[in-house]
Amino acid sequence: MRSYTLIAPAKINLYLEILGDRQDGYHELAMVLQSIDLADRIDLRSNGTDVIRIHCNHPGVPQDKTNLAYRAATLMIDQFPDAFAQYGGVEIEIDKRIPIAAGLAGGSTNAAAVLVGLDLMWNLGLTQSELQEMAAQLGSDVPFCVAGGTAIATGRGEKLSPLPDLDHLYLILAKYRSLEVSTAWAYSTYRKQFGNTYACDTESAEARSGKVNSGCLVNAIAHKDNAKIGECLYNDLEKAVFPAYPQVLQLREAFQRTGVLGTMMSGSGPTVFALTESLPQAQQIQKEVENAIANPDLDFWIAQFTSNGIRVAN
Ligand code: C5P
Repeated sequence: MRSYTLIAPAKINLYLEILGDRQDGYHELAMVLQSIDLADRIDLRSNGTDVIRIHCNHPGVPQDKTNLAYRAATLMIDQFPDAFAQYGGVEIEIDKRIPIAAGLAGGSTNAAAVLVGLDLMWNLGLTQSELQEMAAQLGSDVPFCVAGGTAIATGRGEKLSPLPDLDHLYLILAKYRSLEVSTAWAYSTYRKQFGNTYACDTESAEARSGKVNSGCLVNAIAHKDNAKIGECLYNDLEKAVFPAYPQVLQLREAFQRTGVLGTMMSGSGPTVFALTESLPQAQQIQKEVENAIANPDLDFWIAQFTSNGIRVAN
């Protein structure tokens, strides 16, 4: 019987620009992704059978084959049948702390944890890039979740290049509990409205990369210029989500009025985050926005940037 507990951090998008369409139906992106210390805990336990079972303490998380963590285990079994034959099935227990359907890669980071955990449990010794190649088969954000930290992500989101750590920054996250946004819906809504402005798939890589505007943020990160980082936050998907859910725009405006470094919707939303330089500032901002909006459906979290991806709990 072997077991591992893994810490699986959420991510936010500091930058998300939609560059164009792709032949595989996805969108070509330029993003800057950041891990935060709001994290799920994933327990993996050999169960001495030949089945995978998922358990989760959140009623909204599927506990069957549709769970991305289950699909990660199936992928490992397909790739390493001998290890599966030797070690057998696994119980996957998810202690869910990251809000779901929130634009924070909660499902992706759970899948990344299963890949990393089974690699350890089955003594496979896979490299990070081997794990990330498998991760890309599961979802666009899963490769980033394996390594974590701060990174530029291009392609579908799976091509990564690391940036300097930004562990000194704090953030407040806010989300309406009853509001969930599907990533597929956000992208298809964006495509309907802005598809005519896309770079097309046949355009050269050089022509496409000349259109990316993330330079300001990447520069600010390189210089650890907090004010500039706040100013350069950007997310194209706000244009799809805000018209359909004006309360998300109002939330961002409420953060803006408090004088935070910067505020933005994360990924496909509807979570809004705001950046600060200290924990007390983050606590103060949370109080101000709580008072300004006073809606019992609104949840808040305070977190810190982290350079960690998936790691084994101490
Ligand atoms: O890759 P993942 O399964 O996380 O993506 C969820 C959905 O988001 C996709 O089905 C697709 O509709 C959309 N998406 C996209 N382009 C990307 C990433 C995601 O259109 N680069």
